[in-house]
Amino acid sequence: GTPAARSDKTVTLTIDGRSVTVPEGTSIMRAAREAGVVVPKLCANDMVKSFGSCRLCLVEIEGRNGTPASCTTPAADGISVSTGTERLQSIRRGVMELYMSDHPADCAACAAGDCEMAHMAETVGLSGNRYGMEGANHLAPSVDDHGINFKELDVSNPYFAYDPAKCIVCSLCVRACEEQQGTFALTVEGRGFESRITAGMDEPFLQSECVSCGACVQACPTGALQEKSVIEMGMPDHSEITTCAYCGVGCSFKAE
Ligand code: FES
Repeated sequence: GTPAARSDKTVTLTIDGRSVTVPEGTSIMRAAREAGVVVPKLCANDMVKSFGSCRLCLVEIEGRNGTPASCTTPAADGISVSTGTERLQSIRRGVMELYMSDHPADCAACAAGDCEMAHMAETVGLSGNRYGMEGANHLAPSVDDHGINFKELDVSNPYFAYDPAKCIVCSLCVRACEEQQGTFALTVEGRGFESRITAGMDEPFLQSECVSCGACVQACPTGALQEKSVIEMGMPDHSEITTCAYCGVGCSFKAE
């Protein structure tokens, strides 16, 4: 979803034939959820402002051109929205195909466990890939203009690791850091295949103001950011969320 809107005014719209009334300023994505319609997404959640980068949540609005992102488009009175037309599904398959072509192919070797990206590939019915699997070769050194190996794992943080080969640059981690934790530790550097999350100036996570709160790891929809303990020991069978005065995110730890 997307964060809740706070307004006394409401708008009423139709989503896939279902009428729903929501506070003014609510995104179409959130209104859809209120109406019981799940819109595919990778770069939005309830905790941070929407950014509209993954292009999976596109919808059609009767009488309007284009396919706007439902996470960044506010619900409006009287509009009629479709979320699952064949045209939209085909766009989503195309987007996922591009993501998967630059992503390691071996999900079984990834510790991500419940991976939103893998679920999404299944949801949109992706089978095969017309662009090759460049991302599968993520261990090969890839050096950018500054001599930086932009596909190199960043294991500088004591608690979690970042694998740029699995990153779709949705910036959920950057937004979680800023908006949930109030820390401006992370940024996106590079363009296209060379994009990666850093502390800025090609510095690794440890050189940033990171307080290791883990908000970025929780927000990541792929296996790009993972706790080192999960990489080493696998996903816990059971976890507890706790909060303390140190940060507002909540720690998740394995309970015996
Ligand atoms: Fe809307 Fe990613 S969820 S563009």
